[in-house]
Amino acid sequence: MILVTGGAGYIGSHTVRELRSRGADVVVYDNLVTGHIEAVGSAPFVKGDIFDKELLVKTFAEYKVDSVVHFAAYSLVGESMSDPAKYYRNNVAGTLSLLDAMLEAGVKYLVFSSSAATYGDTGDGLITEDSPQRPTSVYGQTKLMMEQFMSDYDKAYGMRYVALRYFNAAGAHVSGEIGEAHKPESHLIPIILQAALGQRSHIGIFGDDYPTRDGTCIRDYIHITDLADAHIRALDYLKNGGKSTYYNLGNGEGFSVKEVIETARRVTGIDIPARVEGRRPGDPATLVASSEKIKRELGWKPRFDSLDEIVASAWKWHSTHPHGFEK
Ligand code: UFG
Repeated sequence: MILVTGGAGYIGSHTVRELRSRGADVVVYDNLVTGHIEAVGSAPFVKGDIFDKELLVKTFAEYKVDSVVHFAAYSLVGESMSDPAKYYRNNVAGTLSLLDAMLEAGVKYLVFSSSAATYGDTGDGLITEDSPQRPTSVYGQTKLMMEQFMSDYDKAYGMRYVALRYFNAAGAHVSGEIGEAHKPESHLIPIILQAALGQRSHIGIFGDDYPTRDGTCIRDYIHITDLADAHIRALDYLKNGGKSTYYNLGNGEGFSVKEVIETARRVTGIDIPARVEGRRPGDPATLVASSEKIKRELGWKPRFDSLDEIVASAWKWHSTHPHGFEK
């Protein structure tokens, strides 16, 4: 049985769907602060906080949990800079509580969502797992600290883990039943699509004076179902005796903010209004992954490898659920 913390959130809920569609037994553990119960579907669900060690230990025993996929975290870069206490408390101290509960209950395997934000500003080459990790945000710092804990817990207690360093998660489940719904929304693709739906007057482009081909920031967008697939492979790898390790997850191709807007115009057929605004503090100019390591070692391969497909899946969700999970 696999316990998924944050399984009611965006990446968590898609991973739960994918796991269950392949016959895995899953229990979702989420405090529903940012997650949505509607996204959980028919999976067994426990409402709980990762700080509640007692409830975690009880849930591990009740469901005979042998592995954990850990998504529960706050993930807004901007907010992490204005309220670092919230991020260190929840992401760092919360993860320690989870790890302690796992130790107490003898749960040995952990797949954990890390981030491209652990690298910071690396210049414009492809980022490999050996690129230096120098986070430029508190959010990135919390993810790096979590990686460090896991490495030490492996050495001392034999707890094995795979850290997946995501680049920009995007898109929605092919069914159109679940998708991205953050409040407030801060991510580029949903905001562009909200502008397409007329819920915003325009999409603001955060800076066009970066050292990139058109001056706007370049990111590597990876479809949420491809991310989910990587978690499943990572779990299988650990259960088959694999050693603790870490992988980048991206498509290996970067798109600028302007290119993403152009793609969304093409996919939706709507002439989405855009306006250049000032830079957002903490944004590196370019973040593009080399995912060769996970391809080589776990046979992972993105199925959604074009930005058009990724944006089309997001559009299917947003155009049919203009208010997310709210009726
Ligand atoms: N952007 C805009 N206008 C907007 C929103 C975003 O121009 O209204 C730009 C951003 O400046 C950035 C790009 O679009 O250049 C992508 O921004 P997102 O907020 O969608 O994503 P980020 O790259 O900032 O963040 C993502 C994840 C984070 C993770 C980070 C790692 O969402 O969780 O990558 O760097 F920490």
